[in-house]
Amino acid sequence: MTQLSCEPFKIKAVEPLYLSTREEREVWLREARYNLFNIRSEHVFLDYLTDSGTGAMSDHQWAAIMTGDESYAGSRSFYELKETIKELMGFAHLLPTHQGRAAENVLFSVLVKEGNKVPGNAHFDTTKGHIEFRKAEAVDCTIREASDPTLIHPFKGNVDLERLEEVLEESHDQIPFILITATCNTAGGQPVSMENIRSVKQLANRFGKPLVMDAARFAENAWFIRQREPGFEGHTIREIVREMFSYFDAATMSAKKDGLVNIGGFIAMREEELFRAASVYNIMFEGYLTYGGQAGRDMAALAQGLRESTELSYLDWRIGQVALLGSEMQRLGVPVLQPFGGHAIFVDALKALPHVPREEFPAQTLAIELYREGGIRTVEIGALMADRDPVTRENRYPKLELVRFAVPRRVYTSDHIRYTAAVAGKVLERANLIQRGYRLTREAPILRHFTMELEPVKA
Ligand code: F0G
Repeated sequence: MTQLSCEPFKIKAVEPLYLSTREEREVWLREARYNLFNIRSEHVFLDYLTDSGTGAMSDHQWAAIMTGDESYAGSRSFYELKETIKELMGFAHLLPTHQGRAAENVLFSVLVKEGNKVPGNAHFDTTKGHIEFRKAEAVDCTIREASDPTLIHPFKGNVDLERLEEVLEESHDQIPFILITATCNTAGGQPVSMENIRSVKQLANRFGKPLVMDAARFAENAWFIRQREPGFEGHTIREIVREMFSYFDAATMSAKKDGLVNIGGFIAMREEELFRAASVYNIMFEGYLTYGGQAGRDMAALAQGLRESTELSYLDWRIGQVALLGSEMQRLGVPVLQPFGGHAIFVDALKALPHVPREEFPAQTLAIELYREGGIRTVEIGALMADRDPVTRENRYPKLELVRFAVPRRVYTSDHIRYTAAVAGKVLERANLIQRGYRLTREAPILRHFTMELEPVKA
C-alpha cells in the first residue's frame, strides 16, 4: 500500500505576496516594454523565472549562517563543506566559487584551448558560452529522442553513445574532456541514466579523456535513477549519488539549485594536479582557496543544503510538486512537454497559441498573457532567446518555441501550484482570441532577451 504524503516541512517564516489587479499589471507590462525581466519582483505574484538561487533555506541552514566562520584562510566552514562534498560525492579536492558559471570559468581556463571540442549532452548556455569564449566548440551529443517534445523516454538527457564515439574518433586530439549535465536543463530538466554514465565512462577511458559533470541538479538526477532505472529501487539517494560521481574526474556545481542556497558554487576534483592548476585561476578570479567568492556562512549553509537535497523525502516532494504542476496543466488542456522535467514544466507555445505567427514570438506572447492573467512570471525559451544568426543577422527560429515554468525549491505550496495551472488553463481557454504577438523595438547585439523592448502588433 502506498503511503499518503504531503510537504515534508512546516513553515516558520512567511513572506507576504501581493496579488495585483489586471489594470495594474497592464500598466507594469507597458512600462516594462513587454519584457518580463524588466518587471519588479514586487509586481509578480508567483515567480517561475528560474529555480536558480530562488529556493528557501531550512532552519538548520539559517542556524549554520549564524555559526559560519569568516576567516580569510582556513575557515572552519570551508572544511565542513569540503568534508560534506568528500562524503557525498567522493571528491578529495574543492574550490569554492561564487556561482556555477564561475566554476566553469576557472576549470575551463585550465582545460579548454582554442580549437578544442567539448562533447556532451546539450550544454547549458553559460557552459557553452565559456567554451565558445575560448574559441572552442561545444558538441551536442544528446540522444535524438530528446528533440521530440511528446515522446516518452525515461532518460531523455542521455548521451548518444554512437555520436560521442564518432566525435572522439574524428577529433581525438582536440578533445580535452567529456561533459555530462545531470539533469540536462537544456533538454528540459531530463535525467541521465546510470547505465549511460557508465557507458560514457567506458568510452572516456578507451580514448583517455577525463569526464566532468555539470552537477547543478545532481540530486534530482539521482531521484530519477532510483525511480526509473531497474536495480536502483531499494537504494538510498546518497548511494546513487556516490555511484554517479564515482565515474567522474571533476564536477562544476551551481549551488543555487541542488545546493539549496541563494548564491554559491564550486569545483570538486579527484586529482591534486588539476586542483593545483585550477587554484591559480580561482585565486585570480574568485578569491583565496578556502572561500573563493563565498562568505564563510554561505559555505556553512551550502554544506547543510547538500545534506538536505539528498534526502529522499525532500526529493519525492520536490519532483512530485513539479509533476503536479505538469499534470494539472495537462488536465486543463495546456500542451506540456513530456515526460515532466525535474525542475521545470515547459509549455509548447506553438500548440498553445496556434494563430500567433512565429515572427511575432508566440512563446513570449504566451508568457505575457500568463502575467496579464494571473501575475505569473515565466520565461520564453524560443526565438527571442535564440537570438539572430551572427552572420546573416536573421532571426533564428528553434524547433521548439517554449515557455518554461521553473519551480523554486520549497517556496510554493500545492495551492500555489494549482493556482498557476488554473491561470494557464484560463489563458488557453481564450487562446483563439490571441491572434497577434509582439515586435521588437530595441535589442542588444547578443543575449537580447534580457534587455529587449517590445510592442504589441496591432491586428
Ligand atoms: N549549469 C546548469 C545546468 C544551469 O542550469 C546553470 C544555471 C548553470 C550551469 C550556471 O550556474 O547560474 O550559478 O552561474 N541555470 C539557471 C537557469 C540560470 O535559470 O536555468 P549559475
